Amino acid sequence: MMGLSRIQSFGDARAAARRRLPWMVFDYIDGAAGTGHGEALNLAAIRDIRLQPRILVNVEHRNLGVQVFDHAAKIPFGISPMGMCNLSAPGADLMLARMAAKHQTPVGVSTVASTSLETMIEVAEGHAWFQLYFSGDGSGTTRLIERAEAAGYRTLVMTLDVPEVGRRPRELRRGFKMPFKIGPLQFIDFALHPVWSLSTLAKGRPDMANFTEPGFGFDRTASRAAADWGFLERLRERWKGNLVVKGVTSAEDAVRLKEVGVDAIQVSSHGGRQLDACPPPILALSQIRQALGEGFPLFYDTGMRSGEDVVRAYAMGADFVFFGRAMLYAIAAGGEQGLTHFTRILTEEISLTLAQIGRVDMTGLPDTLAGS
Ligand SMILES: Cc1cc2nc3c(=O)[nH]c(=O)nc-3n(C[C@H](O)[C@H](O)[C@H](O)COP(=O)(O)O)c2cc1C
Repeated sequence: MMGLSRIQSFGDARAAARRRLPWMVFDYIDGAAGTGHGEALNLAAIRDIRLQPRILVNVEHRNLGVQVFDHAAKIPFGISPMGMCNLSAPGADLMLARMAAKHQTPVGVSTVASTSLETMIEVAEGHAWFQLYFSGDGSGTTRLIERAEAAGYRTLVMTLDVPEVGRRPRELRRGFKMPFKIGPLQFIDFALHPVWSLSTLAKGRPDMANFTEPGFGFDRTASRAAADWGFLERLRERWKGNLVVKGVTSAEDAVRLKEVGVDAIQVSSHGGRQLDACPPPILALSQIRQALGEGFPLFYDTGMRSGEDVVRAYAMGADFVFFGRAMLYAIAAGGEQGLTHFTRILTEEISLTLAQIGRVDMTGLPDTLAGS
């Protein structure tokens, strides 16, 4: 394992992950829809956000804690739900769950997680949110809701930006599937990445752990195109806990979601993995905040790469943000120590950024936008 001191940024973690992971796995995690231009535009839009430095404000005592629903998170970011995290390293899901427990922050547990939803909430000491995909006939959706309820989940994240899985050429070229098959291409790929192959495949091929019951499966490429507003209204009736809708970039949709009675909206373009032509979600965030007004819980993910990015997203109107790929790269680069190290970097960066802009906590950050 490389010296962690050499990992000081998202770019360092990504480069280390790229060296270590088989091409198929790296391209599954790193890939985006179409040409990747949509993802790049959003990253550029985030970088372009300017925060105004201030002087002579006493910022000696800074607090990164944030209230999410009725819960006090110790850090202002969580982990977005991601399928098959254990491809980044054996036990990656559990590392994320332990991080969530330590910082009392939510870890998203994907429908297609590589560890069961029951184990995840236990290891996360309750700090887990279950992420649901709509299943065509509804039966799979109902079964997963029942299991999430029985396991003690209090927050359901309904991902609605996947009516069909986006075309991600990089993973398609590598022949990535869930569960993946080992053909000649993958055989060569794995042979050229022996450290990953010996550690990961020796522990058994990572699989979709929520679907081990006979007759209860999940087809990642199945159409979810039949989900409509009626479905969401029924879900709102059915799920009494917090309901978050993830994958929103339209202010019109956001206003209607609020009317339907969801508890929060997660602005996201799925990390640029669904529609290359999608407008930058970081800009949509600010429009949606304006459309919904103050006070309605608005979360954000996509393109978060640093602590400064977290502060930028709060400045654009977010009440909480989530990291995706960055966490998997930190784990691929350095295992659980890598994750702890990278999380520390992020919290330090957030704290330093607050000091620079004359703030001691995460409130009122829209006022810190330069020129506001
Ligand atoms: C490898 C990978 C798997 C993902 N799987 C899911 C998933 O199962 N459910 C979901 O709602 N979002 C999924 N996402 C999207 C993330 O939750 C999140 O929206 C995105 O990664 C944020 O962008 P970022 O990676 O630039 O931080 C996945 C993303 C990645 C990179």
